[in-house]
Amino acid sequence: MNRVLSGCRILVTGGAGFIGSNLVESFLNSGNYVVCLDNFSTGKRENLQGFIKNRDFRLIEGDIRNYPDCEKAVQGIDYVFHQAALGSVPRSIKDPMTSADVNIGGFVKMLFASKEAHVRRFIYAASSSTYGDHPDLPKVEEKIGNPLSPYGITKYVDELFATNFAAIYGIETVGLRYFNVFGRRQDPMGAYAAVIPLFVRKLMQHEAPVINGDGSYSRDFTYIDNVVQANHLAALATNKSAVNQVYNVAHGERTTLNELFYMIRELVGETDKKVLKINPVYGPSRAGDIPHSLASIKKAERLLGYNPSYNIKQGMAEAVRWYKANL
Ligand SMILES: NC(=O)c1ccc[n+]([C@@H]2O[C@H](COP(=O)([O-])OP(=O)(O)OC[C@H]3O[C@@H](n4cnc5c(N)ncnc54)[C@H](O)[C@@H]3O)[C@@H](O)[C@H]2O)c1
Repeated sequence: MNRVLSGCRILVTGGAGFIGSNLVESFLNSGNYVVCLDNFSTGKRENLQGFIKNRDFRLIEGDIRNYPDCEKAVQGIDYVFHQAALGSVPRSIKDPMTSADVNIGGFVKMLFASKEAHVRRFIYAASSSTYGDHPDLPKVEEKIGNPLSPYGITKYVDELFATNFAAIYGIETVGLRYFNVFGRRQDPMGAYAAVIPLFVRKLMQHEAPVINGDGSYSRDFTYIDNVVQANHLAALATNKSAVNQVYNVAHGERTTLNELFYMIRELVGETDKKVLKINPVYGPSRAGDIPHSLASIKKAERLLGYNPSYNIKQGMAEAVRWYKANL
């Protein structure tokens, strides 16, 4: 059993989203009071259904770009888990101004409000996109390249602000660079749906998913429960050298898009044999995409005690089971 945070007052921004709602659920289960700040731009009310009536849960409908909303949300809070952002590389290429407003402007407002409220620690969702065009594999935290997308820039700028705020104001921060997270409640709909829920939905509808490129691009797909574990540990870390750092949060294994497709097809096909005959359609590569991504998780193992419980196969079995029951 991993160590869990309990008996604290927690703010999860973006708590109605995929990762945020899983954090809210876990923090409530481990005995915390949880506030969620969300504007429902990509998050969903149904993601909060399981706990909206819980007396230890409070929803603040507001926007991280609006400083009074940030101030209200951090009142009396011990730990902030900042997840609110506009995800997706293609979205940021289409509309870089809104991505920058939310992901940088909103981030700084949340960070400043947290500093003013003297929260114990500000833990935030960083991203593997920060590695940009750096060719090394596996990715180690201190070696990053030039960003490949506006989204990647926003996430790197957040890290710079967090490091700077720690130095000049003394606020404790921890950045978690998530690598392609998947699992229950990840949205399979819309133009910017992530690859795993999109493949699952297409196959369940007996349609052929489109793979961008030739399917040889690879990612370190990370099951949501590993991410939840890393967030608990980031708050619990007491060693000074573990704080004001960024960490890769992944499983540390690489899967190509072709391998991913066949893994999902087999799992969806277990209960629907027609699916086993569907093959992917190949389309052009997408601008801003990194060809390969694989994390070294040594730093998180060493300084946080991170020990991911699910590999991709175990996580995918859980995720597909959830989609079969909920789509
Ligand atoms: N999913 C991944 O694979 C992945 C990988 C790397 C980093 N991240 C980061 O993790 C975080 C969570 O991602 P997710 O996949 O759960 O995305 P998501 O879209 O499901 O969740 C984001 C949440 O933030 C809320 N939000 C957006 N703009 C807001 C604003 N202006 N004010 C208040 N709330 C706002 C949305 O409504 C949503 O509930 C993001 O910061 C994202 O950049 C995710």
